[in-house]
Amino acid sequence: MKGDRGGRLTLIIPLILALTHFIHNNVVLGASSSSFTPSDNYLINCGSPDNAVLDDGRTFKSDPQSSSYLSTDEDILTSINSFPNNNSSSFLPLHLTARIFHHVSMYRFLINKPGRHWIRLYFYPLPHPTYNLTSATFTVTTDDIVLLHGFSVKDSSKIVFKEYLINITSDKITLKFSPMKNSVAFINAIEFVSAPEDLISDSASAVSPVGEFNGLNGYALEVSYRLNIGGPAITPKNDTLSRTWQPDDPFMKFPEGAKNVTVPTDLITYPKGGATPLIAPYWVYATVDQMADSGTSDPNFNLTWMMNVDPSFSYLIRLHFCDIVSKGLNELYFNVYVNGIIGVSGLDLSSITSGLAIPYYQDFVLNASAILNGSVVIQVGPTSNLHSSMPNAILNGLEVMKMSNSAGSLDGLFSSDGSYKGINHGPNVTTKVAAGVGLALGATALLVLLIGILRRQKRPNGYQKQKTFSSWLLPLNSTQCSFLSSKSKSTTFSSIINPGLNLGRCFTLNELCNATKNFDEKAVVGVGGFGKVYLGELEDGTTVAIKRGNPSSSQGINEFQTEIHLLSKLRHRHLVSLIGYCDEQSEMILVYEYMANGPLRDHLYGSTLPTLSWRQRLEICIGSARGLHYLHTGSTQGIIHRDVKTTNILLDENFVAKVSDFGLSKAGPASLDQTHVSTAVKGSFGYLDPEYFRRQQLTEKSDVYSFGVVLFEVLCARPALDPALPREQVNLAEWAKQQNAKGAIHKIIDHNIDGTISQESLMKYVEAAEKCLAEYGVDRPSMGDVLWNLEYALQLQGNSSASSSDDHRSDGDENDENNTKIERPGESHSKDTKDDHTSDDSGVVLGNPMFLENFQGR
Ligand SMILES: *[C@@H]1O[C@H](CO)[C@@H](O)[C@H](O)[C@H]1NC(C)=O
Ligand SMILES: *[C@@H]1O[C@H](CO)[C@@H](O)[C@H](O)[C@H]1NC(C)=O
Ligand SMILES: *[C@@H]1O[C@H](CO)[C@@H](O)[C@H](O)[C@H]1NC(C)=O
Ligand SMILES: *[C@@H]1O[C@H](CO)[C@@H](O)[C@H](O)[C@H]1NC(C)=O
Ligand SMILES: *[C@@H]1O[C@H](CO)[C@@H](O)[C@H](O)[C@H]1NC(C)=O
Ligand SMILES: *[C@@H]1O[C@H](CO)[C@@H](O)[C@H](O)[C@H]1NC(C)=O
Ligand SMILES: *[C@@H]1O[C@H](CO)[C@@H](O)[C@H](O)[C@H]1NC(C)=O
Ligand SMILES: *[C@@H]1O[C@H](CO)[C@@H](O)[C@H](O)[C@H]1NC(C)=O
Ligand SMILES: *[C@@H]1O[C@H](CO)[C@@H](O)[C@H](O)[C@H]1NC(C)=O
Repeated sequence: MKGDRGGRLTLIIPLILALTHFIHNNVVLGASSSSFTPSDNYLINCGSPDNAVLDDGRTFKSDPQSSSYLSTDEDILTSINSFPNNNSSSFLPLHLTARIFHHVSMYRFLINKPGRHWIRLYFYPLPHPTYNLTSATFTVTTDDIVLLHGFSVKDSSKIVFKEYLINITSDKITLKFSPMKNSVAFINAIEFVSAPEDLISDSASAVSPVGEFNGLNGYALEVSYRLNIGGPAITPKNDTLSRTWQPDDPFMKFPEGAKNVTVPTDLITYPKGGATPLIAPYWVYATVDQMADSGTSDPNFNLTWMMNVDPSFSYLIRLHFCDIVSKGLNELYFNVYVNGIIGVSGLDLSSITSGLAIPYYQDFVLNASAILNGSVVIQVGPTSNLHSSMPNAILNGLEVMKMSNSAGSLDGLFSSDGSYKGINHGPNVTTKVAAGVGLALGATALLVLLIGILRRQKRPNGYQKQKTFSSWLLPLNSTQCSFLSSKSKSTTFSSIINPGLNLGRCFTLNELCNATKNFDEKAVVGVGGFGKVYLGELEDGTTVAIKRGNPSSSQGINEFQTEIHLLSKLRHRHLVSLIGYCDEQSEMILVYEYMANGPLRDHLYGSTLPTLSWRQRLEICIGSARGLHYLHTGSTQGIIHRDVKTTNILLDENFVAKVSDFGLSKAGPASLDQTHVSTAVKGSFGYLDPEYFRRQQLTEKSDVYSFGVVLFEVLCARPALDPALPREQVNLAEWAKQQNAKGAIHKIIDHNIDGTISQESLMKYVEAAEKCLAEYGVDRPSMGDVLWNLEYALQLQGNSSASSSDDHRSDGDENDENNTKIERPGESHSKDTKDDHTSDDSGVVLGNPMFLENFQGR
């Protein structure tokens, strides 16, 4: 009897603890609901031109659609390489693309509702011809938490998934990627999603010393392990909060001692308070490991799970229980140990939940000081001597979450501002010095770079304005519209904009501030390496697109320079052109006419815009082909666009197509004996010339290839790359070629126009498109040839089809000509070029550019 009382005593205290926990939850949680709609929900398929839809129905936004969150100095430097090693079952469409950063780059998200948020990061080091992502080393931080420090994925076949739960109290958050020196950073996909308010409460049971732990809200958490014990993996599709639960087998010590039990999920009843389907889904509670019925001498042992952890951190451990094994109430009593320390003594589930098959969970905080062996060990075992019933113990689910340390870090001892928070003062001093030296070196490197640019820009007569590039170093955001100091006279564009360039009207900063409501973030329609693009309205009511360069970005400067130089030299009806610029204060701003009908892609798919007729599509293709043909042949050197795609073909109010975005463009081979330019591969995949990709040698034929993809995109009204489709259909270029070879091209035509295309017109068009996609550049036609074939296709359509004349939106003599006269490519060349110069001279221009992402970024 005495022993019994002792046993009861130890039982009563934890029971009271457990009960208060239970009551607390009861009050807080109220009615449980099994579905949760996050107030903040940002899902990004980084580096991808297209959305990705996962099998759980969630859509990850493409790069263009998410560009407004991103603030970076980069181009899209992404790679997709056939199909990488996707043997792993966790391989997702998200892993097919990545975004690569050379410089510190940030995603910024606005928060609708403060509280705990998931940050989920997907890393897979895709093969890339220029960048070795397995050697990429970088740091990822939020405003005040270090998520990863000096992180890298060294194994090229490894998929790394990181999951955090961060309590956010402000109205926005920055997710910052900082590459280490001589390295890049990369990311394949990002989730930033609200978590339910009551998912993590502020208190838990402290294990060592035993007691109550309060203040969990102050800690950032990283999910280290989440196990569905005794059951299969649970994928995001089957979880209420898109979580993944692993099977427990790899962590089970002495598996022979365990027996799994599964019951139908409809037997599980969530309590009125406490566990909800959001805490863990039915499938976690419907499977369990219990002690195997050894039937032998010593039934007294523990079920033991052991997981490796970083012993310098404390951990929040959540254990899920649901008695689906007992036949009656009060049959099951067992002890719970965390790292050998008793967590609950004599846990009696049925008296807590007043029933069987009712979920229950309990949280423990394990202090780092109690982690002796680099592992978290969870044990459940029978309570001795208490009851006569069969000794047994169960566990249904297990979560282990790392708690942030005093540096506000989940990885190492550096805090998010870069300072070292170790106990030892030595490293503190050294790192600061090192950081200082690093900064100084960085600044020097930047100066050298800028001087280099400056030199290049210097005019032959020695003309050079003062206060040039130093002002580019000022951060973009520090320039307020409200004050116009005397400094405003300093010309910052000066070394780029020289009086010889024809850049149109010179705007004052004030005018542009008014046009954009002081560069209101709401007016941002796109973000890229150069800075941001705003939609603005001039005093006279004209809508314009305003591109404001980011002066702190050398990459941005380069793209700006490229664009300015090209635009000042090129004038063509089918190329974007400039209205004006502003170089007041430290600004570099370009103003373009607004393209009322936006990117071509939006008129093909993914929107509710009316379908374009075949004739309209042909005219748009002809217009873009003219623009490209002019680029290739219109100047002495020839210019390669490098990023031809349907988002870079913009349509004005009359559906006249104009090629935009010359940020990546490159001058063609300088001398005649040179046939290509060697360069790092840039561009957008799905459109990327495979030969260029392989050999990194750029020719005009790379644009021709991309244009071929555009032609099929126009015909089939689907993205160039759609990872959601079956493998053979993912890449449009390959799929179309394959279908055409089978004589089945009609099967993949946009069904909206399928019946309206004349057979001859279609044949001609497909023939032209297919030739563009030839494996080798030499086998591809010139843009002039393509143009000629498209015009022919239009004529063939005109002769046979009864298309309405409304379709024909031609508003210029060029197009009328197209319909009446077919020229041989050779003639077409010279005539075209001549036309262009005419339009240049007559100053007709002021066409209409807009950057690719701009509309989509909205
Ligand atoms: C992937 O699967 C293929 C074929 O099953 C196999 O040859 C290859 O070794 C696997 N790769 C890895 C890294 O497991
Ligand atoms: C890789 O993925 C593709 C498309 O999803 C599939 O066809 C292929 O069989 C996969 N390869 C492996 C080794 O799983
Ligand atoms: C987040 O932190 C704030 C301030 O510490 C606290 O008031 C709030 O309850 C926390 N929210 C959650 C969901 O932890
Ligand atoms: C990439 O870097 C890793 C480690 O730095 C190296 O082992 C690997 O061989 C490199 N791969 C390539 C393709 O250069
Ligand atoms: C359950 O146990 C059986 C054998 O006892 C085993 O074959 C099965 O894989 C286990 N199921 C799970 C989900 O662990
Ligand atoms: C996931 O849910 C489906 C039904 O939605 C069910 O058939 C399947 O068994 C579930 N998977 C697991 C692992 O529970
Ligand atoms: C179960 O584990 C605990 C802690 O490690 C230990 O104290 C206890 O003796 C074990 N029980 C049995 C029956 O082995
Ligand atoms: C762990 O214990 C140490 C001292 O014992 C204490 O300073 C620290 O705050 C504890 N950490 C947590 C997360 O409880
Ligand atoms: C530490 O781990 C080793 C090997 O896993 C084991 O033999 C040892 O008993 C452990 N020590 C403690 C104190 O848990």
